[in-house]
Amino acid sequence: MHPLIRNRRLRSSETIRRMVRETVLTPHDFLVPLFVVEGKGIKQEIPSMPDYYRLSLDNLEKEVKELWKMGLRAVLLFVKVPDDLKDNKGSEALNPNGLMQLAIQHVKNVCPDMLVMTDVALDPYSSYGHDGIVENGRILNDETSEILAEMSVSHAQAGADFVAPSDMMDGRILTIREALEEEGFIETGIMSYSAKYASSFYGPFRDALDSAPVDMKNVPKDKKTYQMDYANRLEAIKETQMDIDEGADIVMVKPGLCYLDIVREIRNDVEVPVAVYQVSGEYAMLKAAAEKGWLEHDAVMMEQLTAIKRAGADIIASYFAKDAVRLMS
Ligand code: PBG
Repeated sequence: MHPLIRNRRLRSSETIRRMVRETVLTPHDFLVPLFVVEGKGIKQEIPSMPDYYRLSLDNLEKEVKELWKMGLRAVLLFVKVPDDLKDNKGSEALNPNGLMQLAIQHVKNVCPDMLVMTDVALDPYSSYGHDGIVENGRILNDETSEILAEMSVSHAQAGADFVAPSDMMDGRILTIREALEEEGFIETGIMSYSAKYASSFYGPFRDALDSAPVDMKNVPKDKKTYQMDYANRLEAIKETQMDIDEGADIVMVKPGLCYLDIVREIRNDVEVPVAVYQVSGEYAMLKAAAEKGWLEHDAVMMEQLTAIKRAGADIIASYFAKDAVRLMS
């Protein structure tokens, strides 16, 4: 007796394995998140994100040039706002000479073809660390959406190619789309964080931007009234479909690894590109395990990124983008 079919023939050498590999990562899959700070000559390592930095505008320019040389073609910008510029309505977000607006201009100056996406949410600007306006212990939805729309227009004016609302207010995609159209930014795209879960994996990011919800009376301690319950699947489909109907060009599932079932389901259901955000906590976990010598950094990284693409991601936002591209050949 012998097996009729021997699957191992297709695994017998590196050459045949590569030839029949179903999922291959390329630099074009990646969106590189970048953290920008005020000042000059600043490159501060984020303690909970080893090898990842907050950059001042001059170093942002250098970084973007390096990314371009490596074949990375898209960045997602976040800013760290000084405490004295924060308030409940995130007013600084609308400053035409604010850090985000300057960062967009600097990237476009040194690298005009780099695709620039910008984070749209109040939390880095909010004195309470929330993605929306806080009133009597609640997050105001429609009033927040109006600000997000103004913020999006301001980013478009500065030269952003895509705005990426990460706030999870209801109806904000439509409000933003209408505002962009009215102001003539018909080519500015929207990448919506459509299925964004209330996850405990965002901790290191909140360290990076000093944007965690503050511990104060009448301020919600977490983001569970707007970000999704991680127990839910159908709700992710509903959220995503609604954002597409409201005008989202790209939708997103976030975080990555724990949510690959959702990624596959959404990829099967919708006709627009699907992005996946491999978030800060996922990055930190691997860095910590590798530092201890418990996991092999590069091998586990590539396995995770390939799994995200295999699950259906068309775009991967990842802090590992540079490390991954270095290993591609
Ligand atoms: C906030 C925002 C968060 C992330 C991206 N945009 C954090 C949050 O919702 O609290 C997290 C990204 C990461 O953890 O890498 N609008």
